Amino acid sequence: MANKVLSRIDSASGCEVDKILLRDFTSSFRCGYVVAEGGVTMPHGYVDVCDKIAQFSLRDDDIFVASFPKSGTTWTQEMVWLLGHNFDYEKAKEFLPARFPFLEHTPLFDYRGFHRKFPDFDVPPYVNNSVQFINNMSNPRFIKSHLPYDLLPEQISLNTGKSKIIYVWRNVKDCLISYYHHCILLEGYKGNFDNFYKMFLANKVGYAPFWAHVLGFWKRRDQENILFLRYEDMKADLPSVIRRVASFLGKPCSEEQLLKLADHLSFENMKKNPAVNYEPVCEMNKKLGLINAEGSFMRSGTVGGYKTYLTQEQIGEIDKWTEKCLEGTGFSP
Ligand code: A3P
Repeated sequence: MANKVLSRIDSASGCEVDKILLRDFTSSFRCGYVVAEGGVTMPHGYVDVCDKIAQFSLRDDDIFVASFPKSGTTWTQEMVWLLGHNFDYEKAKEFLPARFPFLEHTPLFDYRGFHRKFPDFDVPPYVNNSVQFINNMSNPRFIKSHLPYDLLPEQISLNTGKSKIIYVWRNVKDCLISYYHHCILLEGYKGNFDNFYKMFLANKVGYAPFWAHVLGFWKRRDQENILFLRYEDMKADLPSVIRRVASFLGKPCSEEQLLKLADHLSFENMKKNPAVNYEPVCEMNKKLGLINAEGSFMRSGTVGGYKTYLTQEQIGEIDKWTEKCLEGTGFSP
């Protein structure tokens, strides 16, 4: 096993949730899961890249957007990229993952399985070998990652680089609902909501445990190179958040530029923008027969949508679970 990986999740473990995970959440492009340091669940492909990610060389002007999946990453990325590229809306028409690649994109999908099934399909380099693609990028690099703090490149925690990290987090209940829909739409999850809910609370979905992820960045929120954002604050007052991010990045932003950016970043505009709405990927997955699900990546973009989705019992259970996970940390969600 590679350095950061502790074990493989095995259906013979006797654990019901492990069985559900391996039954409902494996496919021709997801062969299994491992447990990484910190008890983090990762798709099996992580084994092939974790050492490369740990040893990844940072550059002083690297900018990371980090988050637990479904916390508003894409929204934050588009904001950060435009602030960092002098509001170049023309260049922003390029697909977001090509200009703001995802560090651990490759291991999320088992491309050996994929290549066997579709030998002629040309997988884009930022997907096929995301780490190498980022290594070859010119400065400044804008990098997305969902890895928890301790699994990010080691130079980050050694603080040898000056790379900036913008972390965004979201209310756990909305995040859970959004993640469930995402996994059906883009990651091949075949099970029902109740089983997804069980897996989430048992830390058996990719990148879980949720609260340890948030706390890993929250603890470091006062570091000069870290900015800690909340999805709900972006919903409540996007211009204020844009001002904070611009100041953190050291990028001037006039009132006129700010209003134009806020408009570009509105849910309605992002939903119809093919550079960020992942519709091309959803369509391609359907065409290849990989996934047969309806829905869109830009799904509801709301705060508190969980109230019409979760039962009172589930809400109570999540609250208790949250309280336990946050006990003694000083963090109040
Ligand atoms: P929902 O599924 O709740 O709608 P990520 O980019 O981390 O995968 O997060 C995706 C979530 O952010 C989705 O949530 C998506 O709709 C929401 N989102 C993306 N752009 C948004 C925007 N401009 N305004 C509000 N929410 C947005």
